[in-house]
Amino acid sequence: MRALVLLLWAGTLLGQVNCQNVASSSEGSPVPDSTGEPVEEEDPFFKIPVNKLAAAISNFGYDLYRQRSSASPTANVLLSPLSMATALSALSLGAEQRTESIIHRALYYDLISNPDIHSTYKELLATVTAPQKNFKSASRVVFERKLRVKSSFVAALEKSYGTRPRIMTGNPRIDLQEINNWVQAQMKGKVARSTREMPSDISILLLGVAYFKGQWVTKFDSRKTSLQDFHLDEDRTVRVPMMSDPKAILRYGLDSDLNCKIAQLPLTGSMSIIFFLPVRATQNLTMIEESLTSEFIHDIDRELKTIQAVLTVPKLKLSYEGEVSKSLQEMKLQSLFETPDFSKITGKPVKLTQMEHRLGFEWNEDGAGTTPTSPLQVTRLTFPLDYHLNQPFIFVLRDTDTGALLFIGKILDPRGT
Ligand SMILES: *[C@@H]1O[C@H](CO)[C@@H](O)[C@H](O)[C@H]1NC(C)=O
Repeated sequence: MRALVLLLWAGTLLGQVNCQNVASSSEGSPVPDSTGEPVEEEDPFFKIPVNKLAAAISNFGYDLYRQRSSASPTANVLLSPLSMATALSALSLGAEQRTESIIHRALYYDLISNPDIHSTYKELLATVTAPQKNFKSASRVVFERKLRVKSSFVAALEKSYGTRPRIMTGNPRIDLQEINNWVQAQMKGKVARSTREMPSDISILLLGVAYFKGQWVTKFDSRKTSLQDFHLDEDRTVRVPMMSDPKAILRYGLDSDLNCKIAQLPLTGSMSIIFFLPVRATQNLTMIEESLTSEFIHDIDRELKTIQAVLTVPKLKLSYEGEVSKSLQEMKLQSLFETPDFSKITGKPVKLTQMEHRLGFEWNEDGAGTTPTSPLQVTRLTFPLDYHLNQPFIFVLRDTDTGALLFIGKILDPRGT
């Protein structure tokens, strides 16, 4: 892992504050293991089983995000990887050893020494979907018509994931309606009904759905919202509604390796959004994307400094509906689509055929209050800092309690996906 060095300012004359590598020094020097090789001591945060699991599935999420982003270099990307990790983790309950270890590797479970991953998963889901988080996530396993599913699988699924598998009727209209009704019920009507035709060749369909509407800790004044320029790239500009706060309190750092300004805004319910904004307007965010891991985001969360800035943020209301099977196939999961061993589910040979993702995501001026954090914690700068999300950026919605990645987005054009 590369060392994280965040600066407050790239300049050398004015008010440079260099938080030189505090990340690794605060952990102490690497201690040698029994072979005499120095090993990095694990951050105590990751020693808590639920945080360790959150880090693993979030790393799956960053992998999936990179797949999606490289597949659509000129379009927005919106993902809630948690719901898909949950569906895969639930499916692994029905997999025999060879197939189970393929799923476990993709979810980075092979790096966790936890004999009871599935009950830890239950704890993680309960934490991140607690009502005060404003985050909804649901996952489902759907099987081809007439499939006889073993009751031991149904029981295990229900116990840890609180979901029952669904067997299709074979009537595409009824099956689509049933799935739509389930999504409506799980998302309290916040995610639109699908009109897409049900594929006819379903064996196993995984469904991951999520919805989030952010509540900032400090709300924006809607009288300050106005149409402003958003630079799609160096040449093209569009006008979009931008919220602004001339005296925002945010956490900030400049990553000089990534040439990127990182800011974090707190949300209610112990959540935050971390923004990655390249110094120069570009649609090529590859460098930042390559560095995204749970450990890197955790380091950023520790190292950012609280400052006051002139902030502008585009209003955002995005939705997504689509298939992500192709991305999974490119992520070490190809064999699930070929000849997997799901004999703990049924005696019949079945395989994964579809993975569907449906999402709603929104932030606007809404927030809890108008009083920012105590000015005592604010690092004084000798100049005002500007933070304008008026060009392509990446955002990460993170649960502060567990570190779990809940949503990730690449916003090339805030007008929609
Ligand atoms: C994006 O940037 C990376 C390195 O920063 C470069 O290797 C890559 O070729 C660029 N991609 C495109 C499509 O320009």
